[in-house]
Amino acid sequence: MSTFPIYRPRRLRANENLRRLVRETTLSVDDLIYPMFVVHGHNTATEISAMPGCYQYSVDILVTAAKELAALGIPGTILFGIPEEKDPIGSEAYADDGIIQQAVRAIKDTVPDLLVMTDVCLCEYTDHGHCGVIEAGEVQNDPTLELLVKESLSHARAGADVIAPSDMMDGRVGAIRAALDENGYQNIPIMAYSAKYASAFYGPFREAAESTPQFGDRRAYQMDSANAEEALREVSLDIEEGADILMVKPALAYLDVIQRVKTEFQVPVAAYNVSGEYAMIKAAAENGWIDEKRVALEVLTSIKRAGADMILTYFAKSVVEWL
Ligand code: PBG
Repeated sequence: MSTFPIYRPRRLRANENLRRLVRETTLSVDDLIYPMFVVHGHNTATEISAMPGCYQYSVDILVTAAKELAALGIPGTILFGIPEEKDPIGSEAYADDGIIQQAVRAIKDTVPDLLVMTDVCLCEYTDHGHCGVIEAGEVQNDPTLELLVKESLSHARAGADVIAPSDMMDGRVGAIRAALDENGYQNIPIMAYSAKYASAFYGPFREAAESTPQFGDRRAYQMDSANAEEALREVSLDIEEGADILMVKPALAYLDVIQRVKTEFQVPVAAYNVSGEYAMIKAAAENGWIDEKRVALEVLTSIKRAGADMILTYFAKSVVEWL
């Protein structure tokens, strides 16, 4: 009699059809949200140098890009705006003719079914590049909430389908939820950037969104990358305050956080596969060092395997082609 273990795991790996039957995680177009950047102007698409294949679009071209997303079957986009003028209080963020408000209206007019999510933050709109108002050299929490509320309401008036606050001020989900409800937008979900880390992986995005802080950094409001329990506290606060979708950002270096959030709270979890994660794969692939498609699909599948229900990723369009 053989002493070899009776169970041989390799049996179920023998061919692709067997592997398909026992595969535990499947990445699908249903999981994807594609981020886009919008600028003033007409007929412009400026490629972001550290994010090959991603562009700052003027509203007219953005609409064409939105049609393409809908045609690919991608459920939604999240929009980031680059204003014409920046000031200390980020006025264009909550102007009804601001760049995001124009972009949302244009997409909803032409491609009504594509979900339009809007990033609610001030850093793209402030001349100092911080995510809130500054007093005595510091980002002020409570005064910033009023501006985030104004920004959220103006996005809702423009027709945004989902509001996504990314500023990391305390209490913003509750403040935004209350204001949306009071103004008749009780059915607009909030996707909260709940566990948003102060991460070096945002480097290329800050070029794309022109939102680099002009002094200091964001460590007094974004989370310390060494912390996971704190992420659970942030998520639990956002749930209490009325968030519908809880986000972990970045994704790849925080798979443990995604998993813990999903296991501790049975809520829809989003993960943001951020600009630096995209740029690393693009750069290595351009050098011929890795296979872009295989590495990107492996990373995105790992994010899903960790527990993400949806992934914000600059690879979204490529994924649809690859699958
Ligand atoms: C705005 C915001 C940032 C990202 C999304 N929303 C940048 C930041 O916080 O500095 C990063 C997205 C990416 O890197 O792809 N606060």
